[in-house]
Amino acid sequence: MRATAIAQPNIALIKYWGKRDCDLNLPAVGSLSVTLGSIGTRTTVEFDATLNADRVYINEQEADSANRRVENCLDRFREKAGIAHKAIVTTANDFPTGAGLASSASGFAALVVAADRALELNLGADELVDLARISSGSAPRSLFGGFVLLENDSGGGTRCSSVLAPETWPWSIMIAVTSDAPKKVSSTDGMESSRTTSPYFSRWVETHDADLQAAVANIEKRDFEKLGELAERSCLKMHAVAMTSSPPLLYWSGATLECAQNIRELRKSGVSTFFSIDAGPQLKAFCLPENSEMVRESLESVPGVLRVISSKLGEGARIVE
Ligand code: DP6
Repeated sequence: MRATAIAQPNIALIKYWGKRDCDLNLPAVGSLSVTLGSIGTRTTVEFDATLNADRVYINEQEADSANRRVENCLDRFREKAGIAHKAIVTTANDFPTGAGLASSASGFAALVVAADRALELNLGADELVDLARISSGSAPRSLFGGFVLLENDSGGGTRCSSVLAPETWPWSIMIAVTSDAPKKVSSTDGMESSRTTSPYFSRWVETHDADLQAAVANIEKRDFEKLGELAERSCLKMHAVAMTSSPPLLYWSGATLECAQNIRELRKSGVSTFFSIDAGPQLKAFCLPENSEMVRESLESVPGVLRVISSKLGEGARIVE
């Protein structure tokens, strides 16, 4: 009743921000992401009839009730397996937790894959997608590798699949880390505040599907420049919604903005690159592998950048033990 899985974070090119159903954690909009290849989460789940409570260890520290989300996820697996056993979950990230690097995405993707194997449920991909999504809206995307689309389906749920395998169109991703501190407002709280208070939220939702479809078409055409334009705009639209929430959400630091300006300058000088920013101050820059050193140097030159993590595209969540 024990299994270990690895899953990698993903970064959305076309962002998810806002929910249409909080209980089922259904997103208001679809999203399109890339799964990273060089940083990850390793999670071991062991169900044990002798335990009287779930125990969750994150990066070697025992988590408290903050991990209700993990317990809820385990409850759904226990229900499917028809058992009451509690579990020990040990999870470790080799990157900063809770700072806009999608640790919840890789964490829950690894958890559902490991729990499924530990209980020998052999659930289908759609069920794993639902179980991952209900824990964190970006988590289903880390179940798959390469370029991944998460869409609302006509039946009131979501579906998720890889639109292009990682080796088909190699990219480099550079993450400029400007802070290791956890963010002050979680994505969950931030997006709910945006939904209820930002005057731009309804337009964000109305205009989102066109961005999503155009981005998928540009992946199919391998049009890096057009995809980059759409992705950078989706990121800025998301942050415009966040910034116009009440109270306003400003996830950027000065260094984040300076990194963004550097990427735009590089692009003006002829280097194909674009950026994205999530609910934290790290900036993610995307480019083709031949430009990765130039992009890295440009980000490293910004005062306030602590380090630059470089990654290629990666695989979906998988069992390792
Ligand atoms: C800004 O998936 O962390 O990274 O569903 O509430 O767990 P919950 O939110 P989460 O939100 C991710 C938001 C984002 C954009 C994105 O990844 O699409």
